[in-house]
Amino acid sequence: MPLASRSLARLINSKLRTNTLVGFQLKCFASTQTTDLKEVLRELIPKEQKRVAAFKAEHKDTPIGQVTVDMIYGGMRSIKGLVYDTSVLDANEGIRFRGKTIEECQAELPKAKGGEEPLPEGLFWLLATSQIPTQEQVDWVTREWNNRADIPQHVVTMLNNFPAQLHPMSQFSAAITVLNLNSKFAKAYSDNVPKSKYWEYIYEDSMDLIAKLPTIAAIIYRNLYRDGTAVGAIDPKKDWSWNFATMLGYDNKYFIDLLRLYLTIHSDHEGGNVSAHTSHLVSSALSDPYLSVAAAMNGLAGPLHGLANQEVLIWITKLVEKIGITPTDEQIKQYVLDTLKTSVVPGFGHAVLRKTDPRYTCQREFALKHLPNDNLFKIVSQLYKVVPSILGDIGKVKNPWPNVDAHSGVLLQFYGMKEMNFYTVLFGVSRALGVLAQMIWSRALGFPLERPKSLSTDGLMALVAAQKKAATGDKPKA
Ligand SMILES: CC(C)(COP(=O)(O)OP(=O)(O)OC[C@H]1O[C@@H](n2cnc3c(N)ncnc32)[C@H](O)[C@@H]1OP(=O)(O)O)[C@@H](O)C(=O)NCCC(=O)NCCS
Repeated sequence: MPLASRSLARLINSKLRTNTLVGFQLKCFASTQTTDLKEVLRELIPKEQKRVAAFKAEHKDTPIGQVTVDMIYGGMRSIKGLVYDTSVLDANEGIRFRGKTIEECQAELPKAKGGEEPLPEGLFWLLATSQIPTQEQVDWVTREWNNRADIPQHVVTMLNNFPAQLHPMSQFSAAITVLNLNSKFAKAYSDNVPKSKYWEYIYEDSMDLIAKLPTIAAIIYRNLYRDGTAVGAIDPKKDWSWNFATMLGYDNKYFIDLLRLYLTIHSDHEGGNVSAHTSHLVSSALSDPYLSVAAAMNGLAGPLHGLANQEVLIWITKLVEKIGITPTDEQIKQYVLDTLKTSVVPGFGHAVLRKTDPRYTCQREFALKHLPNDNLFKIVSQLYKVVPSILGDIGKVKNPWPNVDAHSGVLLQFYGMKEMNFYTVLFGVSRALGVLAQMIWSRALGFPLERPKSLSTDGLMALVAAQKKAATGDKPKA
């Protein structure tokens, strides 16, 4: 990279970091203590609209980077082409939700009575408003979600009629799609509601959808793995994760707390990852939140994205079958080398991160506290010791460290959830929090239809040749 571009990149990165570190400007605007999230947004949105409009007016022609041929062929890595406010990912530090690290979220977000992990309700509030909510505000979100949790009979019937062989993620995404029958945004759009009000209907659909996701997920789980037994009713006095765990059939208080942590940390990972980017793209066509989140779930179902948590457990299970439950480091090393002959090592590597994923670290800390002697956890720890140096030695792997998926399955297994095919559905329930919080803002800020320019290979070659000619005066090669 030329020197000028390098210093530009450094400047942008440091700005991004600074913005992340100070947190989101919305904080300064908070003046109300209402518990109604929509009212808080109603107060914040006009101010942020003004701030963004002023920024755009002043800097609309300011370049912020360059695009190389390598980036275009390389999955658009590092191209800064999206605005996504709810979270920002630093390659070394990991994710910050509206400026807060996972550790800070664990310390600052309200918890359930008797629980030690943050309530995802609070994380959603933080993502949507950039403010740490009070206990009353979180309780209000819990009540809203509990009140909106009922799902239409046609969705239940559809789920009950799916063949047992259909992957839980396909069932999940199909159910979310058909919920759009009741989309308030789709109706408002067809009733010609003004653009300035779009966000209000996106908000309503978002709250409805988040409320319904645990019930849908639990029906899928029970249909597939619990003989179709009923999920039971929502307890209006309990939090979202407690109800989810109960509907799934789990009552261990540590599992419930694990679910709170799981649903918090999987929610958002800035805007360029497959699921977030997909929902951002689809909703830019003004597809309603149900259609946009269903699309995101189809991306999450890919083995290089969310499905990796299932893949990790399948891979560790095969490891145990092959070399036993208490293998040596040397045996594990050989197993990893054998894997590399045919596939990637699941749970390791990342498109952006260059250090151990803090989502991995917080799950490891949970395991050290609650299941230090579990044999599978010990294997995960051995993998942490052995895999990075093997991947590092290959030379081409940019990040040899573990990601979130390397750990989650082992924790779920410990509490009895052994159905690996289901794990990505849990991820999906959580990911909806992030992409929907952003969708409210994307419509509030009036983001237009997303439509990047593509080039054919011939067109790209001609463009490069023309640029070379312009720069050097050389004739382009035929
Ligand atoms: C996440 C992932 C898709 C990122 O891909 P990426 O941004 O292209 O990663 P890199 O730039 O480091 O890839 C460079 C090369 O290293 C390989 N590589 C990356 N991670 C690897 C891993 N865990 N095991 C083996 N090889 C790996 C890539 O396949 C690629 O090889 P290629 O040039 O022959 O195609 C990749 O690390 C991966 O496949 N990990 C395993 C699946 C996983 O855990 N996914 C969940 C992510 S949260």
